[in-house]
Amino acid sequence: MDENNSVKFDKPLYILIVEDNQVDLRLLQGMLAVSENSTERLKWTNTVKGALELLSAHDFDAVVLDLNLPDLRGTETIRRVNELFPDIAVVVNTGEYEEELGIEALEYGAQDFLVKGRYNGYTLLKSLHYAVKRKRLETQVLEAYGQLKEAQGQLIQVEKMKVIGGIASGVAHEVRNPLAAIKYGIQYLNEKSTDRSEDIVKVLESMEDSVNRANDIITDLLDFSGLSNLEQQSESLNVSVLKSLALVNHAISKKEIAVDKQIDINLPNVKIDRNRIEQVIINLLLNSINFVENGGKITVKTYTDDNHVYLDVIDNGKGIDDSIKKRIFDPFFTTRRANGGVGLGLSICKNIMDVHGGKIEVQNNPDAGVTARLVFPVLTAAS
Ligand SMILES: Nc1ncnc2c1ncn2[C@@H]1O[C@H](COP(=O)(O)OP(=O)(O)OP(=O)(O)O)[C@@H](O)[C@H]1O
Ligand SMILES: [Mg+2]
Repeated sequence: MDENNSVKFDKPLYILIVEDNQVDLRLLQGMLAVSENSTERLKWTNTVKGALELLSAHDFDAVVLDLNLPDLRGTETIRRVNELFPDIAVVVNTGEYEEELGIEALEYGAQDFLVKGRYNGYTLLKSLHYAVKRKRLETQVLEAYGQLKEAQGQLIQVEKMKVIGGIASGVAHEVRNPLAAIKYGIQYLNEKSTDRSEDIVKVLESMEDSVNRANDIITDLLDFSGLSNLEQQSESLNVSVLKSLALVNHAISKKEIAVDKQIDINLPNVKIDRNRIEQVIINLLLNSINFVENGGKITVKTYTDDNHVYLDVIDNGKGIDDSIKKRIFDPFFTTRRANGGVGLGLSICKNIMDVHGGKIEVQNNPDAGVTARLVFPVLTAAS
């Protein structure tokens, strides 16, 4: 094999040389220009600033990086490049007596290092091609790891829901009967008590309110676990949307919220348990109502692509803080505890969407507020 590069690599690379020493630059250009298949593609610059600009403008495979540039020195240079361009392979070109710096560079994410004066065209090309291959593998491994982590997270979530669901329904059944007894008791006292003084009436009223609230929570809890017997039929999502809107209309007018309905009248049917899906939509609407200011706006939008039917509930409220984003689907997580929030809304929505083979996504809008999106598979002839 010829000293330089009669060895064949997969395909020529697109390489950026970042080097401020003219002699070293010429040397690198010379070595890379004699590659077979008429040269790898090359660009060069002599500053980190220039490098970052070129990297954002072109699709390089690899960077040959000097660590003694006029505008930044040492391994910080690699960190900067890696952070902004994580897919690009970095090969560091260190001075003759700087091997240690080269080794340090590997720890900071460089794929390889070259020592000036100790490489030739062939070893340079080999290093670059291997660096690119390794970087690609590394990226794939990282991606796979990310997916694994996500799958693990989902699994934990499912298990958590099962456990909580089990406990919750147990407690709910147990508490329901004593609650019913209290409720009858209140009704009885209301009917039979001859003492109608103001404070007695108030106490009874307040007891009844509390029992009703406890009952609502119990119903939510039972919903949470009792999703096994759905009655799914081919239905129009639009009908459910309009019905749900009508049911929360009172709360909407009370806060003087503007509702923008963008309904796709050609929406294909979906296979749903209508009552359950209306429960989901109502929960999303109530969240938006709760988190917009008086006079705010809610947009309700249905649309479709080839495989899915979508419903977006978009508000211009205060949005979701980054620090709690991960927890909003957790049962009993609420930022409205003081104002009557139980924190079961979204977790019930997620359960219901799961059993429908659909999805729920809740995200902040770029400007303000939140978009909650339901995604349903479209009904095919087979389903
Ligand atoms: N549209 C929204 N805007 C801002 N924050 C939201 C929105 N929807 C949900 N959240 C956040 O997610 C949390 C959980 O929502 P979830 O519906 O599960 O519970 P909740 O509304 O607080 O109580 P519940 O629905 O049980 O009455 C909320 O407390 C809030 O912090
Ligand atoms: Mg809610």
